[in-house]
Amino acid sequence: MQIFTTVAEFRAWRKTAGQVAFVPTMGNLHEGHISLCQAAKARGGKVVVSIFVNPLQFGQGEDFNTYPRTFEADCDKLVAAGVDALFHPTVDQLYPRTEQQYKVEPPAIQNELCGQFRPGHFRGVATVVTKLFNIVQPDAAMFGKKDYQQLKVIEGMVADLDMPIEIVPVDTGRAGDGLALSSRNGYLTAEERAEAPRLYRNLMAIKTALEAGATDFVKLTEAARADLENHGWRVDYVEIRDQQRLEHARPGDREMVVLGAARLGKPRLIDNLEVTLG
Ligand code: PAJ
Repeated sequence: MQIFTTVAEFRAWRKTAGQVAFVPTMGNLHEGHISLCQAAKARGGKVVVSIFVNPLQFGQGEDFNTYPRTFEADCDKLVAAGVDALFHPTVDQLYPRTEQQYKVEPPAIQNELCGQFRPGHFRGVATVVTKLFNIVQPDAAMFGKKDYQQLKVIEGMVADLDMPIEIVPVDTGRAGDGLALSSRNGYLTAEERAEAPRLYRNLMAIKTALEAGATDFVKLTEAARADLENHGWRVDYVEIRDQQRLEHARPGDREMVVLGAARLGKPRLIDNLEVTLG
């Protein structure tokens, strides 16, 4: 695997690389990330991964400084997954000026769901992903459904701005007890880790109820919120939205997604489940 830390070196390699499938990450890689690499590999061309902890998408008081950086272990996993090239720029490489002055502004969805609790987050994501796309110039890019709202923001951005890149959604990788794999799970104490699958279990209970024909969305989400809060969670939201545009689901909708975000001790955990009625 070739490792590039500067934009110029990467661009020189890209000229001769042919078809590229791209997996942008912030590192601290787990099986969820690796499944994105495998989906990229299956396309047959070269696989490029980026590792960059993007300051622009972290709010004040969030974990930019303490975000786990595990470069050596990450490299071993990427080599084992057959990745061709790793782009690992410094902050100075991507943001050489003191401030990024031109930013990509997502529409109103950026202020809902996670955006309501992380102001500016999706602007930071859309901006860095645009920069990475312009550097890597991939034919396809893999994004996890684990970050469902992020996936939708990127899909909308690529469509609206005519970026010639196929966005490939990849299913959420989970631990045996259902907990969605996440770099932030490392912040959980042993006790919290045992409690953590409750978020998944509540989303699953809503999914099962929707599949059985339930339409009282408020009652379903309030029950999940209450169960989590009774077990020490601080809930940001539990909501049922439509899969395409992330608008509030309405009775009769067939393609829905149940999304939740809540804090357990230090970390804020997010998860979601798609519900498609036959
Ligand atoms: P990061 O959190 O490192 O995630 C990188 C990619 O891996 C994202 O597409 C994310 O949805 C996916 N991913 C994370 N956990 C997953 C899981 N359990 N199963 C499947 N896919 C999973 O998301 C980011 O980084 C950043 O916002 C980024 C897009 C790199 C921009 O900075």
